Amino acid sequence: MAAAASCSSASALSRASSCPPRTQRRRSCAHTTTSSPRVGFAPYGKHWRQVRKLVTAHLLTAKKVHSYHAARQEEVRLVVAKLREAAAVGVGVDIGGAVNAFANDIICRAVCGKFFREEGRNRLFRELNHVTTILVAGFNMEDYFPGFASLLGVFTRFRSNKVSQTHQRWDMLLEEIISDHERRKTFEHRRGAGGDDDEQEESDFIDMMLSVQQKYGITRDHIKAILMDMFEAGTATSSLVLEFAMVELMRNPHLMAKLQAEVRNKTPKGHEMVNEENLSSMVYLRAVVKETLRLHPPAPLLVPHQSMADCDIDGYTIPSGTRVIINAWAISRDPKSWEKPERFMDGGSSADINFKGKDFEFTPFGAGRRMCPGSNFGLATINIMLANLVYCFDWMLPGGVEKEDIDMAEVFGLTVHRKEKLILVPKPHDTFAHPVQPEAGSMKA
Ligand code: HEM
Repeated sequence: MAAAASCSSASALSRASSCPPRTQRRRSCAHTTTSSPRVGFAPYGKHWRQVRKLVTAHLLTAKKVHSYHAARQEEVRLVVAKLREAAAVGVGVDIGGAVNAFANDIICRAVCGKFFREEGRNRLFRELNHVTTILVAGFNMEDYFPGFASLLGVFTRFRSNKVSQTHQRWDMLLEEIISDHERRKTFEHRRGAGGDDDEQEESDFIDMMLSVQQKYGITRDHIKAILMDMFEAGTATSSLVLEFAMVELMRNPHLMAKLQAEVRNKTPKGHEMVNEENLSSMVYLRAVVKETLRLHPPAPLLVPHQSMADCDIDGYTIPSGTRVIINAWAISRDPKSWEKPERFMDGGSSADINFKGKDFEFTPFGAGRRMCPGSNFGLATINIMLANLVYCFDWMLPGGVEKEDIDMAEVFGLTVHRKEKLILVPKPHDTFAHPVQPEAGSMKA
């Protein structure tokens, strides 16, 4: 990937920390599908501060993320059941497709509550999210070559028709679901049912937003824009990490064996599935996820920023108002920071490096005030699914395919995905059997 960065080295970022990179978000398609600016693309200002506060204080807190643990477990169980069906007939499974549907359903459930499968809504969201990702996340020529904007007229007109159709479909679906929530609330209010504490804790994003709408002074359009952000920012990111983790494990069978040994040893014998309580002691699992984020950050150029003050980086003056694109992908493979940067779990270990915005050599979630507010939600989704994929199954490549044949070509966008599908054949693991492989202590391979 070309290092398309105005500010692309670790040292540039470190310098920027003493001269804080006061940036705001700027993207020409910030209004792509709703009439309100989206959280992720909203410029710095009062509206963004309000919405960001709402999202971090009410939707994505550690407590809220934890409150969805039973929902996550149920969704993982459904995926495992489908994989068992595939295993029974010995067919290959499109891993990317399976984990993308899973990540979408997890977000759907957090957004809409228990009844998110009603009338195939989860499938509709998946389809809309897919179309939106193509529209928003595609390589936006105007972002990188603003001088060509006038030459892109026809393409831009075609795109804006598609954008307005997609906008209408999102609007209708979200309107329907928000109205359902309001009707249910009025009905419960009339019955005098306030819901017990557990119900309050598990309340979905729409309930939460309706309950604080007045406090934050947000409109219905704002609510819809926030919900869209949750889908777009939360689905592909988590599922790409899961898919790339499986790719790397298939390319490195000794690492797969080591991970399976850990997960199978740390899950009580005979348990049909791993549950979230078992995860806390699985250090190698967390190391694999972290290393996957180092080599394959789902948003390799983060989201474009715009500097709000003049700033000096490595002797270059970056004037206020400059579009700043940060190449997190190149930074987390920089040989100055990592011993064998291209090797999975076999280089300068990422175990001791903070990946939540403190160490600038590794920032898959960004850093600073625009940093991802959904990292805990995403990691919870990834950890439980990956643990179960390697606990419940042994995995094989389809007949005739060798690990060296796995194509690592990628398709560029705001998120980067694999060009080829990863097709794997699952073989159920006997969870009553003792694990055979010894567990090694080191974080490295
Ligand atoms: C492994 C999973 C995830 C990764 C790697 C990831 C990564 C990122 C990155 C790189 C950014 C831009 C940061 C910047 O430009 O400085 C971002 C922003 C954002 N992410 Fe995530 N994300 C993940 C999961 C999630 C989830 C699950 C949600 C919500 C449910 C979410 C919600 C957001 C939002 C709302 C923003 C915009 C924040 C703002 O502009 O203030 N993300 N994410």
